[in-house]
Amino acid sequence: MYKTITDFIKHTYNTPPPINLHEPRFIGNEKKYLAECIDSTFVSYVGAFVTSFEDSVKAFTGSKYAVAMTNGTLALHLALRVCGVLPEDEVITQALTFVATANAISYIGAHPIFLDSDLDTLGLSPEKLLTFLKNETQKKEDGNTYNKKTGRRISACVPVHVFGHPARIADIVRICADYNLVVVEDAAESLGSFYQSQHTGTFGLASVLSFNGNKTITTGGGGMLLTNDEMIATSAKHLSTTAKIPHPWAFEHDEIGYNYRMPNLNAAVGCAQMETLDLFLSKKREQAERYATFFAQIGVDFIVEPKDSRSNYWLNTIMLNDRTERDAFLAYSHSQGVMTRPVWRLMSQLPMYKDALCGDLEQAEHLEARLVNLPSSVRV
Ligand SMILES: Cc1ncc(COP(=O)(O)O)c(C=O)c1O
Repeated sequence: MYKTITDFIKHTYNTPPPINLHEPRFIGNEKKYLAECIDSTFVSYVGAFVTSFEDSVKAFTGSKYAVAMTNGTLALHLALRVCGVLPEDEVITQALTFVATANAISYIGAHPIFLDSDLDTLGLSPEKLLTFLKNETQKKEDGNTYNKKTGRRISACVPVHVFGHPARIADIVRICADYNLVVVEDAAESLGSFYQSQHTGTFGLASVLSFNGNKTITTGGGGMLLTNDEMIATSAKHLSTTAKIPHPWAFEHDEIGYNYRMPNLNAAVGCAQMETLDLFLSKKREQAERYATFFAQIGVDFIVEPKDSRSNYWLNTIMLNDRTERDAFLAYSHSQGVMTRPVWRLMSQLPMYKDALCGDLEQAEHLEARLVNLPSSVRV
């Protein structure tokens, strides 16, 4: 069976090995805009491409505001900060995520709580979230929710749209509203994914996208904070530019800010990439359909977009029977030059988070042992 799968992937991509997991594609105006950017001399974070890039992402996602940053991890750090997460707060997220989600919570000095995932969406399970909040927390007179065991305030929840598949975000937002938790969506992987026809990353108070080289579109490195809240957007822009008060020459800063703003050079690439996003998404959907048909024929479980969702199919994923089969397939496919990848280790298994607070992680553990990502680059 492993040979049948790798032969299919080799045949589909029809390029000499290695067949990488997700390569960037530059088939539009990238070089033209980069040259324009260099000629303008505005290569750092002051420049027209930054604003254009933000405008095109706003138009695509329907988000009211967008603030471009150097990468998704730092955008998430800042999003938590401007959404009011404080040191020593607790922040709920899922155990099955990329480490950046948990790290951004730690940068604040807050404590992550790792909960379970849905087997179909791979995102935070609303049922497990509700069970945790009902059993483990209490709401106090100040309106905040506190962890009964630690006494700490739980201020936010960071659900993740894993591999571009939308989490059940409307349910998550509803539950969090009842407990006065801010929702910051980690939409790093889900540009082009919609839940009930609304773009992921526009449900919470804020969200972040990533434009790392392995994402659906890239700016080399980059991220963006999305929000419909003007105060959040203004505060994020201010803090990401060293909290400098705009002035033609004076250096006035009114808070401890960060140097997180995206440079114009990266945004120039982003503008060109946004022009090809629709094409990339349709090609990725075609590839996912090809995989789905093939895996149905050989009886392997292929992860399809969840109910009520339209996924960008950032990384195509299969679920094998157990860890032994997963590891054997990973070894075989790599020996054939086909770059496959297991899902991340659960955050609670990493040394720095081994003592972190956790709910029951039954479904996340099941997924962690079985999921494998397959080559998913846009075929050109
Ligand atoms: C789920 C998730 N969160 C956060 C990030 C961080 O984004 P970046 O690599 O741009 O810092 C990534 C991607 O790399 C990611 O996949």
